[in-house]
Amino acid sequence: MQSSIDSVAKLISNASHVTVLTGAGVSKESGIPTFRDAQTGFWEKHRPEDLATPEGFLADPKLVWTWYDYRRKLLDNVQPNPGHQAIVDLEKLVDKVTVVTQNVDGLHQRAGSTDVIELHGSIKKFYCFDHEHEALDVPFDLEEPPLCNVCGSMIRPAVVWFGEALPHKLLNRGITECEESQVILVVGTSSLVQPAASLPLSGYHRGAKIIEVNPDATPLSRIAEVVLQGPSGEVLPKVVASLKNLKSNSN
Ligand code: OAD
Repeated sequence: MQSSIDSVAKLISNASHVTVLTGAGVSKESGIPTFRDAQTGFWEKHRPEDLATPEGFLADPKLVWTWYDYRRKLLDNVQPNPGHQAIVDLEKLVDKVTVVTQNVDGLHQRAGSTDVIELHGSIKKFYCFDHEHEALDVPFDLEEPPLCNVCGSMIRPAVVWFGEALPHKLLNRGITECEESQVILVVGTSSLVQPAASLPLSGYHRGAKIIEVNPDATPLSRIAEVVLQGPSGEVLPKVVASLKNLKSNSN
Protein backbone atom coordinates (compact mmCIF):
# COMPACT_ATOMS: atom_id res chain seq x y z
CA MET A 1 0.00 0.00 0.00
CA GLN A 2 2.82 2.46 0.79
CA SER A 3 4.18 2.30 -2.74
CA SER A 4 0.70 3.07 -4.04
CA ILE A 5 0.41 5.95 -1.58
CA ASP A 6 3.78 7.29 -2.71
CA SER A 7 2.78 7.04 -6.37
CA VAL A 8 -0.42 9.00 -5.62
CA ALA A 9 1.64 11.64 -3.79
CA LYS A 10 3.90 11.88 -6.84
CA LEU A 11 0.93 12.39 -9.18
CA ILE A 12 -0.49 15.10 -6.88
CA SER A 13 2.93 16.82 -6.59
CA ASN A 14 2.89 17.31 -10.37
CA ALA A 15 -0.67 18.67 -10.39
CA SER A 16 -1.67 22.32 -10.20
CA HIS A 17 -5.39 21.56 -9.75
CA VAL A 18 -6.81 18.61 -7.80
CA THR A 19 -10.53 17.92 -7.49
CA VAL A 20 -11.73 15.72 -4.63
CA LEU A 21 -15.11 14.07 -5.25
CA THR A 22 -16.49 12.71 -1.98
CA GLY A 23 -19.41 10.59 -0.81
CA ALA A 24 -20.78 9.35 2.48
CA GLY A 25 -17.73 7.15 3.10
CA VAL A 26 -15.56 10.17 3.93
CA SER A 27 -17.89 10.92 6.87
CA LYS A 28 -18.16 7.30 8.06
CA GLU A 29 -15.23 7.68 10.49
CA SER A 30 -16.96 10.72 11.95
CA GLY A 31 -19.75 8.36 13.00
CA ILE A 32 -22.23 9.24 10.27
CA PRO A 33 -23.69 6.13 8.62
CA THR A 34 -23.16 5.93 4.88
CA PHE A 35 -26.24 6.48 2.80
CA ARG A 36 -26.83 2.85 2.10
CA ASP A 37 -26.28 1.68 5.62
CA ALA A 38 -27.94 4.70 7.23
CA GLN A 39 -31.11 2.76 7.88
CA THR A 40 -30.30 1.54 11.38
CA GLY A 41 -32.71 1.05 14.24
CA PHE A 42 -36.06 2.75 13.79
CA TRP A 43 -35.19 3.60 10.20
CA GLU A 44 -34.43 -0.02 9.23
CA LYS A 45 -37.92 -0.58 7.89
CA HIS A 46 -37.77 2.38 5.53
CA ARG A 47 -35.96 2.50 2.18
CA PRO A 48 -33.97 5.69 1.53
CA GLU A 49 -35.85 5.85 -1.75
CA ASP A 50 -39.09 6.18 0.25
CA LEU A 51 -37.77 8.89 2.53
CA ALA A 52 -35.53 10.99 0.28
CA THR A 53 -38.11 11.72 -2.43
CA PRO A 54 -40.73 14.44 -3.05
CA GLU A 55 -43.38 11.71 -3.25
CA GLY A 56 -42.26 10.28 0.09
CA PHE A 57 -42.37 13.72 1.66
CA LEU A 58 -45.87 14.47 0.37
CA ALA A 59 -47.09 11.00 1.36
CA ASP A 60 -45.81 11.31 4.93
CA PRO A 61 -44.37 14.76 5.73
CA LYS A 62 -44.01 13.95 9.44
CA LEU A 63 -41.97 10.78 8.79
CA VAL A 64 -39.61 12.42 6.30
CA TRP A 65 -39.27 15.54 8.45
CA THR A 66 -38.37 13.53 11.59
CA TRP A 67 -35.87 11.42 9.61
CA TYR A 68 -34.02 14.55 8.49
CA ASP A 69 -34.32 16.03 11.98
CA TYR A 70 -32.70 12.85 13.35
CA ARG A 71 -29.88 13.10 10.78
CA ARG A 72 -29.41 16.85 11.47
CA LYS A 73 -29.20 16.18 15.22
CA LEU A 74 -26.57 13.49 14.58
CA LEU A 75 -24.38 16.30 13.23
CA ASP A 76 -24.32 18.05 16.60
CA ASN A 77 -22.35 15.16 18.07
CA VAL A 78 -19.87 14.51 15.29
CA GLN A 79 -16.63 16.11 14.20
CA PRO A 80 -14.73 16.11 10.93
CA ASN A 81 -12.30 13.16 10.87
CA PRO A 82 -8.64 12.91 9.72
CA GLY A 83 -9.87 12.24 6.18
CA HIS A 84 -11.62 15.62 6.04
CA GLN A 85 -8.56 17.24 7.61
CA ALA A 86 -6.18 15.68 5.08
CA ILE A 87 -8.26 17.20 2.27
CA VAL A 88 -7.89 20.59 3.98
CA ASP A 89 -4.12 20.03 4.31
CA LEU A 90 -3.93 19.43 0.54
CA GLU A 91 -4.87 23.08 0.06
CA LYS A 92 -1.46 24.09 1.41
CA LEU A 93 0.34 21.68 -0.92
CA VAL A 94 -1.49 22.10 -4.24
CA ASP A 95 -2.17 25.38 -6.04
CA LYS A 96 -5.89 24.69 -6.38
CA VAL A 97 -8.05 22.12 -4.55
CA THR A 98 -11.78 21.83 -5.25
CA VAL A 99 -14.06 19.63 -3.16
CA VAL A 100 -17.17 18.35 -4.93
CA THR A 101 -19.27 16.48 -2.39
CA GLN A 102 -22.46 14.44 -2.51
CA ASN A 103 -22.67 14.75 1.27
CA VAL A 104 -25.11 17.10 2.94
CA ASP A 105 -23.43 17.12 6.37
CA GLY A 106 -21.26 20.22 5.97
CA LEU A 107 -18.20 18.47 7.50
CA HIS A 108 -15.82 19.56 4.75
CA GLN A 109 -16.55 23.20 5.52
CA ARG A 110 -16.32 22.58 9.27
CA ALA A 111 -12.90 20.97 8.73
CA GLY A 112 -11.74 24.08 6.86
CA SER A 113 -12.05 23.28 3.14
CA THR A 114 -12.44 26.61 1.38
CA ASP A 115 -13.97 25.61 -1.96
CA VAL A 116 -16.80 23.09 -1.53
CA ILE A 117 -19.49 22.36 -4.11
CA GLU A 118 -22.44 20.68 -2.36
CA LEU A 119 -23.93 18.83 -5.33
CA HIS A 120 -26.76 17.34 -3.25
CA GLY A 121 -27.41 20.39 -1.08
CA SER A 122 -27.20 20.73 2.67
CA ILE A 123 -29.22 19.17 5.48
CA LYS A 124 -28.64 22.38 7.44
CA LYS A 125 -30.52 24.54 4.94
CA PHE A 126 -34.24 24.66 4.22
CA TYR A 127 -36.63 26.05 1.67
CA CYS A 128 -40.32 25.69 0.94
CA PHE A 129 -41.70 22.90 -1.19
CA ASP A 130 -43.63 25.01 -3.69
CA HIS A 131 -41.31 27.92 -4.46
CA GLU A 132 -37.95 27.27 -2.72
CA HIS A 133 -38.39 30.34 -0.51
CA GLU A 134 -35.48 30.11 1.95
CA ALA A 135 -36.39 29.29 5.56
CA LEU A 136 -33.98 30.41 8.29
CA ASP A 137 -33.60 29.37 11.94
CA VAL A 138 -35.68 26.20 11.64
CA PRO A 139 -35.82 24.68 15.15
CA PHE A 140 -35.12 21.02 16.01
CA ASP A 141 -37.71 18.56 17.33
CA LEU A 142 -40.67 19.82 15.35
CA GLU A 143 -43.25 17.05 14.90
CA GLU A 144 -43.96 18.11 11.32
CA PRO A 145 -42.65 20.47 8.67
CA PRO A 146 -43.25 24.17 9.44
CA LEU A 147 -44.98 26.27 6.81
CA CYS A 148 -43.39 28.91 4.62
CA ASN A 149 -44.10 32.41 5.90
CA VAL A 150 -44.20 33.69 2.32
CA CYS A 151 -46.45 31.21 0.52
CA GLY A 152 -47.64 28.82 3.22
CA SER A 153 -46.26 25.65 1.61
CA MET A 154 -44.37 23.07 3.67
CA ILE A 155 -40.72 23.68 4.50
CA ARG A 156 -38.33 20.89 3.40
CA PRO A 157 -34.59 20.23 3.72
CA ALA A 158 -32.56 21.93 0.95
CA VAL A 159 -31.22 18.59 -0.29
CA VAL A 160 -31.55 16.90 -3.69
CA TRP A 161 -33.99 13.99 -3.43
CA PHE A 162 -34.19 10.92 -5.62
CA GLY A 163 -35.79 11.90 -8.89
CA GLU A 164 -34.90 15.57 -8.53
CA ALA A 165 -32.43 17.37 -10.76
CA LEU A 166 -29.21 18.72 -9.29
CA PRO A 167 -28.85 22.51 -9.36
CA HIS A 168 -27.47 22.75 -12.90
CA LYS A 169 -25.00 25.55 -12.14
CA LEU A 170 -23.43 23.44 -9.38
CA LEU A 171 -23.30 20.42 -11.67
CA ASN A 172 -21.77 22.46 -14.49
CA ARG A 173 -19.17 23.87 -12.12
CA GLY A 174 -18.36 20.37 -10.87
CA ILE A 175 -17.84 19.21 -14.47
CA THR A 176 -15.60 22.19 -15.25
CA GLU A 177 -13.49 21.64 -12.13
CA CYS A 178 -12.95 17.99 -13.07
CA GLU A 179 -12.15 18.91 -16.68
CA GLU A 180 -9.48 21.34 -15.46
CA SER A 181 -7.91 18.96 -12.93
CA GLN A 182 -4.83 16.83 -13.47
CA VAL A 183 -5.75 14.54 -10.58
CA ILE A 184 -9.22 13.59 -9.32
CA LEU A 185 -9.45 11.89 -5.93
CA VAL A 186 -12.71 9.91 -5.64
CA VAL A 187 -13.23 9.26 -1.95
CA GLY A 188 -15.92 7.29 -0.13
CA THR A 189 -18.55 6.99 -2.81
CA SER A 190 -20.17 3.89 -4.28
CA SER A 191 -20.20 5.77 -7.62
CA LEU A 192 -23.71 4.48 -8.24
CA VAL A 193 -25.75 7.67 -8.28
CA GLN A 194 -25.81 9.84 -11.38
CA PRO A 195 -24.87 12.43 -12.44
CA ALA A 196 -22.30 12.73 -9.62
CA ALA A 197 -20.82 9.32 -10.45
CA SER A 198 -19.96 10.49 -13.98
CA LEU A 199 -18.16 13.67 -12.96
CA PRO A 200 -14.72 12.00 -12.80
CA LEU A 201 -15.18 10.87 -16.41
CA SER A 202 -15.25 14.53 -17.48
CA GLY A 203 -11.67 14.83 -16.31
CA TYR A 204 -10.61 11.31 -17.23
CA HIS A 205 -11.40 11.94 -20.91
CA ARG A 206 -9.11 14.98 -20.75
CA GLY A 207 -6.22 13.03 -19.28
CA ALA A 208 -6.84 13.48 -15.54
CA LYS A 209 -5.56 10.65 -13.34
CA ILE A 210 -8.32 9.09 -11.25
CA ILE A 211 -7.41 7.98 -7.72
CA GLU A 212 -10.03 5.99 -5.80
CA VAL A 213 -10.02 5.80 -1.99
CA ASN A 214 -12.51 3.20 -0.78
CA PRO A 215 -12.41 -0.08 1.21
CA ASP A 216 -14.53 -1.65 -1.54
CA ALA A 217 -14.42 -1.77 -5.33
CA THR A 218 -16.89 0.38 -7.26
CA PRO A 219 -17.87 0.80 -10.94
CA LEU A 220 -15.22 3.54 -11.10
CA SER A 221 -12.36 1.29 -9.94
CA ARG A 222 -11.65 0.02 -13.46
CA ILE A 223 -10.60 3.47 -14.73
CA ALA A 224 -8.64 4.44 -11.64
CA GLU A 225 -4.91 5.00 -12.12
CA VAL A 226 -4.48 3.91 -8.50
CA VAL A 227 -6.96 2.36 -6.05
CA LEU A 228 -6.09 2.95 -2.39
CA GLN A 229 -8.17 0.27 -0.71
CA GLY A 230 -8.89 1.42 2.83
CA PRO A 231 -10.74 3.90 5.01
CA SER A 232 -10.18 7.50 3.96
CA GLY A 233 -9.47 8.60 7.54
CA GLU A 234 -6.38 6.38 7.49
CA VAL A 235 -5.37 6.54 3.83
CA LEU A 236 -5.63 10.27 3.07
CA PRO A 237 -3.37 11.42 5.93
CA LYS A 238 -0.73 8.99 4.62
CA VAL A 239 -1.01 10.49 1.15
CA VAL A 240 -0.55 13.99 2.58
CA ALA A 241 2.43 12.84 4.68
CA SER A 242 4.06 11.31 1.60
CA LEU A 243 3.38 14.49 -0.39
CA LYS A 244 4.94 16.66 2.33
CA ASN A 245 7.95 14.36 2.34
CA LEU A 246 8.29 14.67 -1.44
CA LYS A 247 8.06 18.46 -1.26
CA SER A 248 10.60 18.77 1.55
CA ASN A 249 13.06 16.52 -0.28
CA SER A 250 12.72 18.53 -3.48
CA ASN A 251 13.34 21.88 -1.75
P1 OAD B 1 -23.00 5.14 -0.37
O1 OAD B 1 -23.53 4.72 0.96
O2 OAD B 1 -23.70 4.72 -1.63
O3 OAD B 1 -21.49 4.65 -0.53
C1 OAD B 1 -20.56 4.87 0.49
C2 OAD B 1 -19.21 4.39 -0.02
O4 OAD B 1 -18.25 4.66 0.99
C3 OAD B 1 -19.17 2.90 -0.29
O5 OAD B 1 -18.54 2.67 -1.55
C4 OAD B 1 -18.31 2.35 0.85
O6 OAD B 1 -17.53 1.24 0.42
C5 OAD B 1 -17.43 3.52 1.14
N1 OAD B 1 -16.89 3.59 2.49
C6 OAD B 1 -17.38 3.04 3.62
N2 OAD B 1 -16.59 3.36 4.67
C7 OAD B 1 -15.58 4.14 4.18
C8 OAD B 1 -14.46 4.79 4.74
N3 OAD B 1 -14.18 4.71 6.06
N4 OAD B 1 -13.63 5.51 3.93
C9 OAD B 1 -13.89 5.59 2.59
N5 OAD B 1 -14.95 5.01 1.99
C10 OAD B 1 -15.78 4.29 2.78
O7 OAD B 1 -22.88 6.73 -0.32
P2 OAD B 1 -22.68 7.70 -1.54
O8 OAD B 1 -21.82 7.07 -2.60
O9 OAD B 1 -22.24 8.99 -1.00
O10 OAD B 1 -27.92 11.06 -2.85
O11 OAD B 1 -24.16 7.84 -2.10
C11 OAD B 1 -24.34 8.73 -3.17
C12 OAD B 1 -25.72 9.30 -3.08
O12 OAD B 1 -26.67 8.25 -2.99
C13 OAD B 1 -25.98 10.11 -1.83
O13 OAD B 1 -25.47 11.41 -1.92
C14 OAD B 1 -27.49 10.15 -1.83
C15 OAD B 1 -27.83 8.74 -2.30
O14 OAD B 1 -28.85 8.75 -3.24
C16 OAD B 1 -29.02 11.82 -2.53
O15 OAD B 1 -29.51 11.79 -1.43
C17 OAD B 1 -29.50 12.65 -3.65
